[in-house]
Amino acid sequence: MDISVTKADKLKDHPSDSGLGFGTIFTDHMFNMDYNPEKGWHNARIEPYGNITMSPAMMTLHYGQAIFEGLKAYRTPEGGVQLFRPMDNFRRMNRSAEMLCIPQIDENFVMKALLKLVDMERAWVPSAAGTSLYIRPFIFATDPYIGLKASSTYRFCMILCPVGAYYPEGFNPVKIWVTRDYVRAVRGGVGRAKTAGNYAASLYATELAHKDGYTQVLWLDGVELKYVEEVGSMNIFFKLGDEIVTPELNGSILSGVTRDSVIAMAKSWGMKVSERRIAIDEIFEAHAKGELKEVFGSGTAAVISPVGNIKYHEKVIDIGNGSVGPTASRLFSELMDLQYGKIKDPFGWTVPVTPA
Ligand code: COI
Repeated sequence: MDISVTKADKLKDHPSDSGLGFGTIFTDHMFNMDYNPEKGWHNARIEPYGNITMSPAMMTLHYGQAIFEGLKAYRTPEGGVQLFRPMDNFRRMNRSAEMLCIPQIDENFVMKALLKLVDMERAWVPSAAGTSLYIRPFIFATDPYIGLKASSTYRFCMILCPVGAYYPEGFNPVKIWVTRDYVRAVRGGVGRAKTAGNYAASLYATELAHKDGYTQVLWLDGVELKYVEEVGSMNIFFKLGDEIVTPELNGSILSGVTRDSVIAMAKSWGMKVSERRIAIDEIFEAHAKGELKEVFGSGTAAVISPVGNIKYHEKVIDIGNGSVGPTASRLFSELMDLQYGKIKDPFGWTVPVTPA
């Protein structure tokens, strides 16, 4: 399939790198393609970034049949641009698509489209420390129909957004809040899919966490309300003694690309890393015994985010006395150095965006 290109008549002013926040500024162009049962995915096009016209009956608006991904393009010290594990995102998108009854995409084709789009928008990739170009691929159901079924038509889009830190705290420790009153996902549900509804389901408890002065919710499993799952926008890691532990992928946790990178990187340093069930009580007991050394989250948007406090059942534990632990610090700096092309990539994770 060819990718047609329509250039924007007027290009936008670029923001200054230093004041970048997250998710509000979009580049000049976007990628779109459509699906119908007759033609499959078709009409692949790069065109000016702009609003989408939709029917008020569009199925996504009513039943949430929508999936998305998040990845980033980084500015290298030589002025080049590179992506981090993009195929892992497209593979995960297909796994999410399967769960949401959305047709599969051709991973190699969307990769080609992404390289073309990022190449066109390369001037938008910021270069200040900690900044990048966030890439949001997404697919949504477009049938104008309000009966409940899987849509027969879809739109796939990719939009780009120059960003700074996701959390206002930056790399300073965030505070997380554990609840037994609400769950994000249940056994047999769509917890492992990156689908809009999982994020919508997290909002109410997150509002309660904010009211209590906490940044994010740490979700427990939806069956026994006992085992740690993930945080609102990231996976979670604990350092117990010398070992790093993280919840195993049990079907209701998102298999984060950054999570996988953290595991591989820490193992390559000779650290012991276990993926297993972790009871929240075990974390509080480890803290009481002085064995809980560090807690941090991982995610594309969040990168590595140290956790300084956890509140559960009116009990608050402080981790690291407000400072960032050595493992989170090392992961943060080595992962970023690798993503930004400042060090050699022994894992084969980075993909250069070569100019056309
Ligand atoms: C990401 O980290 O890329 C995500 O998709 C999380 C989102 C809530 C910003």
